Amino acid sequence: MIVNTELENKGNLFPSKIINFRKDVDTLYFTAENDVVLQMRIVRDSVLRFRYTTTGTFENDFSYAITKYASTGYNHLAIEEDEEKYIVTTSKLICHIAKTNMRIQLYDAKDNTLVNEDELGFHWEESYEYGGNIVKMSKTVNERESYFGLGDKPDHLNLKGKRFQNWVTDSYAYGKHTDPIYKAIPFYTGLHHNKAYGIFFDNTFRSYFDFAQERRNVTSFWAQGGEMNYYFIYGPQMQDVVESYTDLTGKPHQLPPLWALGYHQCKWSYYPESNVKEVTQKFRDLKIPCDAIYLDIDYMDGFRCFTWNKNHFPDPKRMVKELADDGFKTVAIIDPGIKIDKDYDVFKEALDKDYFCKRADGPYMKGKVWPGECYFPDFTKPEVRDWWSGLFKELIEDVGIKGVWNDMNEPAVMEVPNKTFPDDVRHDYDGNPCSHRKAHNVYGMQMARATYQGLKKFNYPKRPFVITRAAYSGTQRYTSTWTGDNVATWEHLWIANVQAQRMSMSGFSFVGSDIGGFAEQPQGELFTRWIQLGIFHPFCRVHSSGDHGDQEPWAFDEDVTDVVRKFVELRYQLLPYLYTAFWNLVDHGTPLLKSLVMFDQEDHQTHYRTDEFVFGDKILVCPIQEPNSKGRRMYIPRGKWYNFWTDELVEGGKEKWVDAEIDSMPIFVQEGAIIPKYPVQQYVGEKEIDEVTLDVYYKEGKERSQLFDDAHDGYDYTKGRYSLRTFKLTGKPNELIIQQHKEGKFEAKYEKFRLNLHGLPFEIKEIQLDNVTVSLTDVKAATTGAMIVDKDFSEIHIIG
Ligand code: NOJ
Repeated sequence: MIVNTELENKGNLFPSKIINFRKDVDTLYFTAENDVVLQMRIVRDSVLRFRYTTTGTFENDFSYAITKYASTGYNHLAIEEDEEKYIVTTSKLICHIAKTNMRIQLYDAKDNTLVNEDELGFHWEESYEYGGNIVKMSKTVNERESYFGLGDKPDHLNLKGKRFQNWVTDSYAYGKHTDPIYKAIPFYTGLHHNKAYGIFFDNTFRSYFDFAQERRNVTSFWAQGGEMNYYFIYGPQMQDVVESYTDLTGKPHQLPPLWALGYHQCKWSYYPESNVKEVTQKFRDLKIPCDAIYLDIDYMDGFRCFTWNKNHFPDPKRMVKELADDGFKTVAIIDPGIKIDKDYDVFKEALDKDYFCKRADGPYMKGKVWPGECYFPDFTKPEVRDWWSGLFKELIEDVGIKGVWNDMNEPAVMEVPNKTFPDDVRHDYDGNPCSHRKAHNVYGMQMARATYQGLKKFNYPKRPFVITRAAYSGTQRYTSTWTGDNVATWEHLWIANVQAQRMSMSGFSFVGSDIGGFAEQPQGELFTRWIQLGIFHPFCRVHSSGDHGDQEPWAFDEDVTDVVRKFVELRYQLLPYLYTAFWNLVDHGTPLLKSLVMFDQEDHQTHYRTDEFVFGDKILVCPIQEPNSKGRRMYIPRGKWYNFWTDELVEGGKEKWVDAEIDSMPIFVQEGAIIPKYPVQQYVGEKEIDEVTLDVYYKEGKERSQLFDDAHDGYDYTKGRYSLRTFKLTGKPNELIIQQHKEGKFEAKYEKFRLNLHGLPFEIKEIQLDNVTVSLTDVKAATTGAMIVDKDFSEIHIIG
């Protein structure tokens, strides 16, 4: 049953009058006359959980999304009541619960302003066909309220006036507005009056969000089963909302290996071995940096997972080793569908152990994917995940594959109208048996989790690298992701840009698109512009279906190759900057990409911008999204920014034309920033880094920048063997001061920083290095005029 409208349903039921209140440590229970119970948990001062039952008893409290590492604990909790309502106060929020109908109002505890308010609040409709309820929530829209988030929706960043569905779906060649596609992330951020809050509806059934589309003043969300169970997350800064959501649903369990942030090359498919070698060799010959090469489904024997086609790959271990010797990490695809074949070990074992999903009445869930008829492991069963993780032993430990790419895990089924399992398929759901209606949205997540477990085990002491297509909230703990089967069109370049930003503000930052487009073939110009955007995405991979021609950087004309090289080199230079941003993501959930609205929510001009974004915290980027462009207009956020190419200082808070011929794109650096850079390498670890460049952008005033470093792989950083350098820049009319504070036990091999000063408004007369005056010639690099200083300096004064 599709609920097309939240209101038109005549069967809506509502909570009645509250007749009982009870408190159990951090959890409050409000019971209504008609057996509706609201369970309200104070997760933190700024995070409240609202959970409703209509029968007096709750379901087993189990969630795949919420991490066991989520922070809990509050500073203040007071509960009062008057005739009309209960009043729950924490140090951040005041919550009113109306006695007559359980409706909620949430206020900022600091200034008593209304942040969020129930319209009808919780209501439901009984689901005759399936049992249980269709659970619904409606909220009032505030004046000038905007909405953001919801994962991979290929639509305008601001979701106001639109309706969306969460049902993980294989969506070959989707377009702008196609909904739903591959991911289900039922989390959004609302913003009005400079205050942002988030709502995470942790319900895995097919769910809907309506942002003032059906009714202009109402935002609602509902699901076709399960509980009304949502978290209210208060900011008031958008970035705080996303960080709190990420705290709840999990940060990535570890840093990616640094090579995973390099450039990746993929195609469906590179085979046989000679073709793989030809491609990798060409990267080295043309000196285009590349760290990873992918094997799509054709490496397998008849598309049987965990097997090799020995005609095409006679000795995979040798090949993978030879590629590794040349700096290439090999990533292999693994799909969920297991070919029905009595002579295939993986199939036989899963059958023997009863690990495949079954239909309600007993038969196995049979569906067509690449290998033909398949059965599918039930990844929602812990035992199955353990077994699956064990299957990677040979691939990882023996053959030496470094990363695994999980595809088709929506799960996709071919030649059936709904593209996936029927609703009646049964799942274990970690001991909470259920139908596919409930498990569908987490199936891919649990597959990626099991794959992650395998890689973690067999790649130890190195870090795992996984990539998944399907995801539910929380999947970011285990894996990176890409945006699925896009198309080589300019519109898709726009889509890739909004999707990466939206994923980042939905707690899943490690994301990228198939650069150049998966379906069809791009012209050289489109490919070039897409590379320019792609190097600023956390996951940077060129992939294409291959049946429309080649899509390697040399498949176009020479000019394209040169510009691609230039931008991929820039990516490699910026690796320490990106790695530091990743550390901030892993450490406190800070999104890697910041849409302008997240960067400066108080500036209303940012609320409807889609194209510009901040990469990390200091670099502003805006892709060129139209053919034949010589530049574009873009919005520069408030503050002062240096043009990356010319060092011209521009004042933000307005739109501006920015030149960008085909070999350039609009990039700006925030004044005061210190951007760390590596020398260009053909792959991570190719060279011993003997010097790190710090690009210092003068500012009159103060600014803080960071540089994180460690061994770039392995887990030593979790035991303190990392270094986190904090640079404090203070600029005065005649002086620039840089102070450094270092923490952590890691000692990088390099000794020196090379300081490039940008925008210095005075001529240098004197330099004091840790209180000692040094002569200019002592510290100046002979050729470039940059300053070379010991990496462990504490304080530099550059005086004019
Ligand atoms: C669909 C995936 O989205 C695509 O990236 C892959 O190349 C094909 N399946 C073949 O495995």
